[in-house]
Amino acid sequence: MSGQGAKPLMTLLLLGGTGTATEIAARLARSGHDALCSVAGGARLGRTVDLPQREGGFGGEAGFRAFVKERGIRAVLDATHPFASRISERSARLCAEMGLPYCLVWRPEWVPEPGDRWIFLDQPEEAAAHVPPAAVVFLATGRAGLERFSDLRGRYLYCRQIQPKEGDFPLPDGEFILGTPPFTVEEEVALFRALRVDVLVVRNAGGEGSRSKLLAARQLGLLVLMLNRPPPPDAPLVGSVEAALDWVAQL
Ligand SMILES: NC(=O)c1ccc[n+]([C@@H]2O[C@H](COP(=O)([O-])OP(=O)(O)OC[C@H]3O[C@@H](n4cnc5c(N)ncnc54)[C@H](OP(=O)(O)O)[C@@H]3O)[C@@H](O)[C@H]2O)c1
Repeated sequence: MSGQGAKPLMTLLLLGGTGTATEIAARLARSGHDALCSVAGGARLGRTVDLPQREGGFGGEAGFRAFVKERGIRAVLDATHPFASRISERSARLCAEMGLPYCLVWRPEWVPEPGDRWIFLDQPEEAAAHVPPAAVVFLATGRAGLERFSDLRGRYLYCRQIQPKEGDFPLPDGEFILGTPPFTVEEEVALFRALRVDVLVVRNAGGEGSRSKLLAARQLGLLVLMLNRPPPPDAPLVGSVEAALDWVAQL
């Protein structure tokens, strides 16, 4: 994508890899906004969006700086996952250094409602203290970082992943199960029942799309261990797709 010859001018860089980013990209495409969406290698592109896209890391700080310069980026809208804290911290910091407007889409966190049994955790390692021996645990936290649940030895662990990947389950008692989101509440209830799940571990990503597991847990009276988000960078934040588009419109 290096710009030799005619260099396309992409004024807005949308950092993606989430459903929210896909939604924003689709809206930008429909309005004809001059923008480019970037997703990390292996990240889901979501629904097909009619916006120029690039895939893969930038190659660290220097790579990001060079990319911004080469592509004539004028502003960065960060709609990456709230737990993808490295890319957000770095993008906010480098944009400030380069004098580029930067904004992070920071959708509201999930909060417990009547009937919910939630315990908030800061780190995955804290989970073991709340899980009875021999319990069945459903890790809705993804494959990356599974080893941080190694203190759950003695419990049976299910970890949901979207695509099958090479390699055995990295902990003694557990297995991967496959599933392609979105899941309805009914589907989640049926799955948790079939697997005899006792405890659900979730990252507080927020958003409606993946909330069904929490509604299913409430229906079944399951204990939910909710992992708190890392703090956002010290930068402008918006809480919704609409607010993000307003920010773009005001550039
Ligand atoms: N963490 C999650 O739970 C989660 C869940 C769903 C989706 N995602 C998406 O998956 C991607 C990777 O997540 P992560 O937790 O590994 O991120 P991370 O730890 O914050 O970032 C790791 C590296 O991935 C590259 N990267 C991340 N987002 C990128 C983007 N939008 N475009 C180009 N490069 C990007 C950067 O590589 P370079 O240093 O080479 O530039 C970055 O240094 C994120 O974009 C995120 O939105 C993450």
